[in-house]
Amino acid sequence: MELSNKRIERRDFFAQRQQVLRTWHTGKDVEDFELGVTYQRAIPQAKRFSTALRKADLAGKTLLQPRAGVALVPEHIKLLTFLEDSCDVLPTTIDAYTRLNRYEEAASGIARSEEAGTSLLNGFPAVNHGLAGCRRVVEALSKPVQVRHGTPDARLLAEITLAAGFTAYEGGGISYNVPYAKKVPLEQSIRHWQYCDRLVGLFEEEGLRIDREPFGPLSGTLVPPFVSHCVALIEGLLALEQGAKCLTLGYGQAGNLMQDVAAIRSLRELAHEYFQQSGHEDYQLNTVFHQWMGGFPTNESGAHAVICWGAAMAAMSGATKVIVKTPHEASGVPTKEANKQGLDATTQILNMVRDQHPPSGPALEREVELIKREVRAVMAKVFELGKGDVAVGAVRAFEAGVMDIPFAPAACNAGKLLPVRDNEGAVRIFEPGRVPLPDDVLAYHRERIEERARAENRAPSFQMVVDDIYAISKSMLIGRPR
Ligand code: 5AD
Repeated sequence: MELSNKRIERRDFFAQRQQVLRTWHTGKDVEDFELGVTYQRAIPQAKRFSTALRKADLAGKTLLQPRAGVALVPEHIKLLTFLEDSCDVLPTTIDAYTRLNRYEEAASGIARSEEAGTSLLNGFPAVNHGLAGCRRVVEALSKPVQVRHGTPDARLLAEITLAAGFTAYEGGGISYNVPYAKKVPLEQSIRHWQYCDRLVGLFEEEGLRIDREPFGPLSGTLVPPFVSHCVALIEGLLALEQGAKCLTLGYGQAGNLMQDVAAIRSLRELAHEYFQQSGHEDYQLNTVFHQWMGGFPTNESGAHAVICWGAAMAAMSGATKVIVKTPHEASGVPTKEANKQGLDATTQILNMVRDQHPPSGPALEREVELIKREVRAVMAKVFELGKGDVAVGAVRAFEAGVMDIPFAPAACNAGKLLPVRDNEGAVRIFEPGRVPLPDDVLAYHRERIEERARAENRAPSFQMVVDDIYAISKSMLIGRPR
């Protein structure tokens, strides 16, 4: 079957499902799809992710979510119950072996962790723990739990965790491939994620809402809003086509106030525009703001400051949810105490900012319009390349360098687009590569970069880009020469 943005036929899905469930022995526990449906049906509303999102949206509130995952079930439960009181919705962050479908190595990581009495994996190996282990986790908690990972082929993980009662699933065929993998063909990861979305669609057909969240921040390194918006829109369209109905589109903080507020607003507006243009009416749309995803200061006070600026932007932008960093970000997997510190700092800021009017005015409108024009230019080319099919268009757009994610490792990514900050720290386009932005838009980016170059008394160069990449970890937003 050729790649296309068409709903996978039931028969084809269940044929593929048999293969998927055979890839690791825990797959057999979820063979009967109806058991997962029955289990999901019994989950109280208070533990449904989509319900929490909807309530937050109506109340104009931003939900708080940490990242967290360790190797063993009892320790993972301890970790999440410790964090539960300090946040609104919970994660289960999956370990790196599971993300690469290396279940043998995950198994040995579990065994070694048991021996050592501490987690030797960087997340929770949900596939190895299987249906029973995952259900123990979900049942021990009173808040909704999402699977968060970075897996190009997440089919078995989806089967096990959704049957186990997780009510939200992160990832997408582009966003969990291009920034995460080197050699996985894009067409393959898109197909594998169409499967995950179809699975979610089957739950939706039973009246069971599962939130689907494309991974917004991508490489987390100076990603211009239009780049991540295009990925979010495409993955949203692909998910809707397979029957998903609750989408949470993401964006990673860039650091400039106007740009970050404009990014969340434009993301929401563009999503409605593109989804409705494609004939989708019946869906729930949410947004998620990720606190700074690039390099963090090692000094914990500095890290707290970065966290708080992100919290302020999340609140001002009106995102439905914020994903929180910790003061241990620069050093690795955080302790549960550090994790709670990030949550508490974020809560303080959210509470202080919540009732204030967000920034508005011509500067904001200009930024919103700029992002929209950039997205429309790229999306038009994606549809053109795919002759109307967004799945085909996405693959061809990456081949052609029309879609280009800065600093992403995938071989299918051109890596020709170079971003750099302007004199106020907004991320601008230094080198567009083959991304088809309108001439006047490119001229505007050049002007803003020239303004910075004059202020710094140096020519725009790759050195400037490098300086920006390290700036925040060195306590600055803009990588100025010292
Ligand atoms: N627990 C907590 N945070 C984690 N991250 C990755 N794995 C874990 C884990 N097991 C965080 C990283 C980074 C982000 C991408 O996810 O620290 O902030």
